Amino acid sequence: MAAVTIREMELEDLPPVYALGERLFTSERWPNLYRTWDVYELVDMFSSDSETCLVAESKAGRIVGFALGTVIEKRRSAWTYGYIVWLGVDRKHSGRKVGQRLLAKLTELFVEQGARLLLVDTDSKNEAALRFFRKQGFGHRREHVYLTKNLTHHESDAGDGKGAAKRRSGDKRQGKAGKSKRKRSPAKRRKREK
Ligand SMILES: CC(C)(COP(=O)(O)OP(=O)(O)OC[C@H]1O[C@@H](n2cnc3c(N)ncnc32)[C@H](O)[C@@H]1OP(=O)(O)O)[C@@H](O)C(=O)NCCC(=O)NCCS
Repeated sequence: MAAVTIREMELEDLPPVYALGERLFTSERWPNLYRTWDVYELVDMFSSDSETCLVAESKAGRIVGFALGTVIEKRRSAWTYGYIVWLGVDRKHSGRKVGQRLLAKLTELFVEQGARLLLVDTDSKNEAALRFFRKQGFGHRREHVYLTKNLTHHESDAGDGKGAAKRRSGDKRQGKAGKSKRKRSPAKRRKREK
């Protein structure tokens, strides 16, 4: 079995990570994951949370997995969360502990940044991922329901005659859960506060 290295994600990793995500989060299997996985999501995570974006690289230099996370601090709360936003392993390498190693490394980084609780979300039918996370000690499952409304023939309420609303994917970034509030890492925040 070829050795796989877990390391921080670099700029050059963006295209292969994006391509791997496209293969894993397909519209047929996981419509919601497919919709929210896009190049803006990836670039945004990399630019705001690079310390908690990891890749798994094979000996041959191929990207075979990634874990993208962010630290969430809530105002007036003692809790700091480590949110595992995206985790993916190339199917050819699944079952070889790559996911487990990515998660372990990300957890270490979260703890260093003060996280006291790990948070992850996925499609409720993604049994493989749910079993994987249970194995890693996750519990307290909560269901979150998504609804959709077709806007193809939407008329603006404002009556401005502009017709159908069009939104390019990624224009209004909300994160995978639809309501995740990403926080800059403490280091970046400190830099900005200076
Ligand atoms: C979920 C995922 C990250 C797991 O990665 P992986 O590298 O294949 O998993 P690992 O080899 O590290 O498995 C670690 C443990 O979880 C278990 N596990 C992994 N996938 C499993 C599955 N489908 N069913 C049951 N157990 C599973 C393994 O058996 C192993 O347990 P063990 O230590 O007792 O042997 C990977 O399957 C994946 O990329 N899925 C598609 C993307 C996705 O759904 N991501 C999650 C939401 S963003």
